[in-house]
Amino acid sequence: VAQAQTGDQLAGRSVVISAGGTREALDPVRYLGNRSSGKQGVALAKAAAAQGAQVTLIAGAMDVQAPTHPNITVVRIESTRELLDAVLEHAQHQDALIMAAAVADFRPASATNEKIKKQDDASAPTIVLEQTEDVLRTSVEQRAAGQPLPRVIVGFAAETGDETTSPLEYGRAKLQRKGCEILVVNEVGVGKVFGQNDNDVTILFANGREELSVQGSKDVVAEAIIEQLAVALA
Ligand code: CTP
Ligand code: CA
Repeated sequence: VAQAQTGDQLAGRSVVISAGGTREALDPVRYLGNRSSGKQGVALAKAAAAQGAQVTLIAGAMDVQAPTHPNITVVRIESTRELLDAVLEHAQHQDALIMAAAVADFRPASATNEKIKKQDDASAPTIVLEQTEDVLRTSVEQRAAGQPLPRVIVGFAAETGDETTSPLEYGRAKLQRKGCEILVVNEVGVGKVFGQNDNDVTILFANGREELSVQGSKDVVAEAIIEQLAVALA
């Protein structure tokens, strides 16, 4: 395992990073989840800590262990609601927020307290979904409303292209829509990105700074993002 490049690019800075996937309860034993491994978020936490930042890692479901590092505090969450509450609490008075978590877009509109039972007539229940809170957008909005939330907010976007629009074009539109300072775009598809060790991303900046493309391991990508974050905070 390669050691994160150490330095002092983020000395004296505090960074909140969300990682992993959210799980939305259906009943006491079942949930809707996603395939996020948590690797990119953990790599970001390690890279930020290695550059001297104080890191709060807000971690959902992950295939990888949460890192143990003197500069990293880990907060565990399960649902999008818990993630929202944790971000709004822990990101207060911090310098940066990086939303690397794979957040559910929808959750069951009602979770039951009892396990859903199978019926003898071979029928199956219909699951009604509702939209979850948008943690990134809410953070940007609450900051605009005067809350002491981070001056630099970084989003991630997993995009697929289609006949008319490239993944990058969707990413540029998402940067505008979300209102964050930096958006890291990666192209997703079957077998790509989720759970893989390599990554191919483009970093977009709201302030007109030139787009930057980065290829390599999630550690290499994390170090590039942390370097750009340090520039944005300078
Ligand atoms: N995100 C969030 N809250 C949500 C959904 C997404 O904070 N409920 C964050 C993600 O952590 C990521 C960014 O928003 O940093 C973009 O996520 P993405 O899924 O690409 O965008 P969505 O706005 O959910 O749009 P869609 O999935 O329809 O493309
Ligand atoms: Ca989404």
